[in-house]
This record gives sequence, C-alpha cells and structure tokens, in this order.
Amino acid sequence: MRLALPFTPALSRVGGGMAGTAAGHTGADSPVVVVANRLPVDQVTDPDGTTRWQRSPGGLVTALEPFVAGRGGAWVGWSGSAGEAPEPFESGGMSLIPVPLAEEEVDRYYEGMSNASLWPLYHDVVEKPEYHRHWWDTYVQVNKRFAERTAEVAGEGAIVWVHDYQLQLVPAMLRQRRPDLTIGFFLHIPFPPYELFTQLPWRSAVVEGLLGADLVGFQRPAAAANFVQLARRLHDLPARGSTIEYDGRTVTARAFPISIDVKAFEELAGRPDVVKRAEEMRTELGNPQKMILGVDRLDYTKGIAVRLNAFQELLEEGVVEVPDTVMVQVATPSRERVEHYVHMRETIEQQVGHINGVFGTLGGPAVHYINQSVPREELAALYRAADVMLVTPYRDGMNLVAKEYVAARSDLGGTLVLSEFAGAAAELKQAFLVNPHDIAGVKNQLVRALRVDPADAAKRMRAMRRHLARNDLDHWASSFFDALQAQA
Ligand code: ADP
Ligand code: F6P
Repeated sequence: MRLALPFTPALSRVGGGMAGTAAGHTGADSPVVVVANRLPVDQVTDPDGTTRWQRSPGGLVTALEPFVAGRGGAWVGWSGSAGEAPEPFESGGMSLIPVPLAEEEVDRYYEGMSNASLWPLYHDVVEKPEYHRHWWDTYVQVNKRFAERTAEVAGEGAIVWVHDYQLQLVPAMLRQRRPDLTIGFFLHIPFPPYELFTQLPWRSAVVEGLLGADLVGFQRPAAAANFVQLARRLHDLPARGSTIEYDGRTVTARAFPISIDVKAFEELAGRPDVVKRAEEMRTELGNPQKMILGVDRLDYTKGIAVRLNAFQELLEEGVVEVPDTVMVQVATPSRERVEHYVHMRETIEQQVGHINGVFGTLGGPAVHYINQSVPREELAALYRAADVMLVTPYRDGMNLVAKEYVAARSDLGGTLVLSEFAGAAAELKQAFLVNPHDIAGVKNQLVRALRVDPADAAKRMRAMRRHLARNDLDHWASSFFDALQAQA
C-alpha cells in the first residue's frame, strides 16, 4: 500500500526552515516549564543541506504538546541533531529552548546510557543492558546542562515538570540551583522492581536524582511502589504509602496513567476526508475481508516479531488466507544507530520478506510494511480502516497507539488485541488481552478478534471508549498538576 500524503508536521504551526517566529525570545521567567530530552520538533537536514523541522517521534510529544501549547509555557529540550543549538524560538504558543548536544554526547548520553542501558533495564531486560562508566559520566554532564538551562528560564516560584528516563538526575540538580521551584517528574516508561533496578551500578545516584522532585509520577501503581521500596531498602528512608521523607521534605510517588487528546483524535478520525481515505486504503489493499494493523516505533520492546510470527503460522496452517486477510505494519524508524535496533530491524525485514515471498502474489503482498513516519491524518485513516489492531509489546509504560485506535473508532467498528504487559491493558480491559510470550495464545486471540461477532465487538469498543472519554489527556495533566501544586 502506498501512503498518499507527503509528510507534513502535525505541529501545523511550525513551518519549514526555522520553526515558528523569530529567535530572540529566551523564554526567561516562564511560570511553567517542561523539560524533556527532545523538543516537540526535530531539526532535520535534507541531502541538499537545507534544514527543516518536523514533529518528534514517540508518545511523550503526542501527550505533552497540546498541554504546553495551551498554557503558553516553555519547553527545554534537544533539537535532535548534534552540534550547536538553535536560538530559542516561539512556536505554537510555546517558547522552545534548545539544549545543545555534541556528537560524542549523542553517542554516550542518548544512544548509550539512555537507550542501551536504561531503556532495556526498565523494560524487563528484553535485551541485555550494557553498562559503561564513560556513558554514565556523560549522562551526568548532560543532565547538569539541562538543569542549568532550566534554572535560567524558570520564573520565580515556577512549576517545572521534568520528563522521562533520560533526565532522572535533573530534579535534584535543579533543586540545588533553584530551591524556590516546585518540581515534578514523570516517567513515561515502566519502572522496574528492586531486583532488576539494583543491577544498575549508579542506582543510588538515580534514586537521589528523582528524590529532588516534590512529586514523582509513574504510569502504574506497581511502578510507584517499586520506587518507594527502593527508597526504603536502598537508602533506608522513612516511607509510608506513597510518601518518602527525604532531606527535610516529603516526596510523593504516585501513578498517573497517561492518555491522549481523545476528542481531538476522535474528531480527526471522523472527518469526512479521513473516512474517505480509510475506504481508499481498503481499495488499495485489494479489498480484503479483513485488515490487520500494527503501528509502532521500530523498537524491540514492541513485539513486532511476535505478531508477524502469529500471522505467519496462521497462514501456514491455512486458518487465514491472502488476499482475504492482509496485514499492514507501520514502523517509524527509531534510534537507528543503537545496535539492538539495527539487529531487530534486519530481523523484522527478513521476516516480512519471507512471509511475502511464500504467501504474497504479484501486486498483492501478505504484509504491507511501511518503515516511515506517517502524518496524523493518514494514521487516523489507517485506524478507521483496520478490522484488528495488534498491539503486542513485551513491556510498555502505557502504549498510546492502543488508545488512539479506540479514540478513532467512533463507528464502534474494529477490535483491539492488546498485550497484558502494556500499561494500557489495566484500562482497556475489554480488549482481547494476550501474553506476547505465548505464541499459541496470541494466535487464538487474533483468530477470535478476526471472527468476532460485530455486536460483541461494538460492546467492547463502547466500554473502552467510555473509559477513555473520562480519562483523557486533560485529566492526566490536571491530576498531575493539581497533585504537584498541592505539594508546593
Ligand atoms: P512510544 O512512546 O514508545 O513510541 P506510544 O505508543 O506510547 O509509544 O506512542 C507512540 C506515538 O507515536 C503515538 O502517538 C503514535 O501515533 C505515534 N506513531 C507511532 N508510529 C508512528 C508512525 N509510523 N507515524 C507517525 N506516528 C507514529
Ligand atoms: O517514553 C518513550 C520515549 O523514549 C520518549 O521519551 C520519546 O519521546 C519517545 O520514546 C521516542 O524516543 P526517542 O526520543 O529516543 O526517539
């Protein structure tokens, strides 16, 4: 299948060339500051040497961009390319404050410590984490730079909200520089139990870094409990329920399950042009009876091979057939220089090639594989077109794709197959839940989803949509913010 639209940044206020309006605004004195590894836009350089901005990948940006834009806050983050940072600029009602990373820092802090040590460690060691002292030293150095830049732009008594595993030392470093600030931290990915976390050679420094915050938020209550237990067992701190006494302050650790802008996504997916595009997609796919869909960053935690295996076995057994049933896998390139990712991409692409070689026909592949980032409209149309959405991570903090699919299905069509190990499974209980390690179980649930009675599917979808309507992005952000302000 060919995706029709060229890439247009979903952050429509950001144009080509330099994003937003004039550099020069420093964001100084901002009352609300978000700090994240990436800015909501990435600076990319085209082969002809021109630079432009495009929306950054991943769930963090999806969740935070509407929140910060609505409050006119500042966002401190990396521009996505090595070298000097662009000047601060205004975009979509936000002040974007770029933090520079040198080539070696990208290598050691981002690709190394963040994505080859912490990412696999926090995701149940699905791949083996590597620990290197020079990666750690750079992680400390870069966290310090983020803390310094934030200390410069935050107004007196401002609220600062730090995000994710790349910046776990920032809360303590910032508190040291600016004790007047109220500091929140939110971890978008899972937080491992004591037995795994304590592998980390720098475990005490990470816990102390996080304890610099007033409120530490997690996706799941079990993750918050893991953190409280660490503070108690590793640091011998007095801790009760969700609170820890540290350095004369009370630090709270609680779960705040993240969500999406449900209304906006529902509206987008219900737009006549998007609904029409969904129909065109079915035609482009050869009008299959059933279309199965996967949408992920190309990441080994997402279990893309699991769903390909399940589909392949069902084809081999003749339980499903091409062209009646086809699969579309959209996989955004991600962390392409990290070895685990290079290896996984090769494996996935070989597997897709094998399935298509054996089961595809001329002009009619069994698996349509798209290794690109696609515009939001196109994504919404894919969700509307798909009969079965396969979300099978081995471990995932939340998984916003699952929520987007449900939000998109105001027609009550479609069925969600969801891993028990995604944070979303605790909320989307009417999905067909699977254990991604159990291939027979995944196959059974996939077949059930393909053959589900439409009335049963609609009932499940309605219940999940009811839950999402009450638990949207606004609910997430305001519960975190209210809890943080209560700590101030
Ligand atoms: P993660 O944060 O690990 O990437 P999530 O599922 O929580 O995982 O969030 C992924 C976000 O990225 C979602 O908003 C999803 O729509 C978006 N996304 C994933 N794949 C693509 C793609 N190929 N093109 C555009 N957006 C994508
Ligand atoms: O929480 C998941 C996360 O790592 C976010 O921090 C990030 O925005 C997203 O995935 C994409 O990853 P990266 O910034 O490494 O491309």
